[in-house]
Amino acid sequence: MNAKRRAKITALGRYVPPKVVTNYDLAKRVDTNHDWIVERTGIIERHMVEPGTPTSELAAQAVGDLLRQRGIEANEIELIIVATVTPDMLFPATACRVQDKIHAKRAWGFDLSGACSGFLYALTVGAQFIESGAHDKVVVIGADVMSSIINFEDRSTCVLFGDGAGAVLLEPSEDESVGILGYAHEIDGSGGQFLYMPAGGSLNPASHETVDKKMHYVHQEGQPVFKYAVRKMGEISRTVLERNGMTGDDVDLFIAHQANLRIISSAADKLGLDESKVVKNIHKFGNTTAATIPLATGDAIDDGRLQKGKLVVYAAVGAGYTVGAVLMRWAY
Ligand SMILES: CC(C)(COP(=O)(O)OP(=O)(O)OC[C@H]1O[C@@H](n2cnc3c(N)ncnc32)[C@H](O)[C@@H]1OP(=O)(O)O)[C@@H](O)C(=O)NCCC(=O)NCCS
Repeated sequence: MNAKRRAKITALGRYVPPKVVTNYDLAKRVDTNHDWIVERTGIIERHMVEPGTPTSELAAQAVGDLLRQRGIEANEIELIIVATVTPDMLFPATACRVQDKIHAKRAWGFDLSGACSGFLYALTVGAQFIESGAHDKVVVIGADVMSSIINFEDRSTCVLFGDGAGAVLLEPSEDESVGILGYAHEIDGSGGQFLYMPAGGSLNPASHETVDKKMHYVHQEGQPVFKYAVRKMGEISRTVLERNGMTGDDVDLFIAHQANLRIISSAADKLGLDESKVVKNIHKFGNTTAATIPLATGDAIDDGRLQKGKLVVYAAVGAGYTVGAVLMRWAY
């Protein structure tokens, strides 16, 4: 029998805009303070674009970084998947705008809306095109300009988010034991009421009223989202391990969506993981939604913890609710 054709990540690119916004900067705009933000979330600073910089720009920069790392040209890319909740426009797809910016002349692509789990969903979708033999080079991007949908008068949300982009290249793995080994994904639409952007879609098209009521911003009830994330992040991680006959003891690195340090630590505890196996970079980027996992992966490569052969569990919980986990044996 032929070996299974797996998808593996062969390169990673990143981009965050240069402007840093500290907790102290935010405290000048809303009634908040550095200590509260650090204690409740773990965030110290985040990067934000200059107004008018779209998600496609960050995404294109991240892909440029990726192409340099891999030493290939944009016209070798066959498929571009962009996970985002802050597309440049409702249409055309941000993937089309990225494709044009990077001159990926042979690529097709589309956007995927999975909020904070978006990158893991896009990774899973991209992997199918590699595993089926349809494509040999798929770029999966997680990119968001959260500052474009944040109400800077709402202290309960504006301190949480940042802007950024990460991109990975998926290619076929000759070695069946390396690459994306499995996934576990769920959605629970009954949680949609706790984290959403009310206006700008077909339910509440843009009008003077929706703008006056600030309905084009993130609305969140933090506590139910927090409780759900604490429960599901550990649960989904265990599920993906169990499906592949593994336990927390097998895990070398836990790379979770960076929304809140307390959520990450609680999930790591449930898996019985030592602190040294948990990647945390929320302190410098905040919650960049679809970009947190590739950005955290990049940091783990930089600090030497992510190396060829390491078993990685990716996990995320986000608006929707969306829940996801991906298990992978790192390839380079
Ligand atoms: C948002 C979050 C950090 C709030 O933390 P919390 O411990 O739940 O805090 P609460 O919402 O209970 O608020 C506690 C108090 O702090 C206040 N507060 C809220 N935001 C504040 C801020 N930025 N600065 C200072 N005080 C703040 C509240 O008004 C409240 O005051 P009160 O007790 O006088 O009413 C937390 O709920 C969370 O992380 N939720 C999940 C968010 C998330 O992960 N979202 C993305 C999912 S992908």
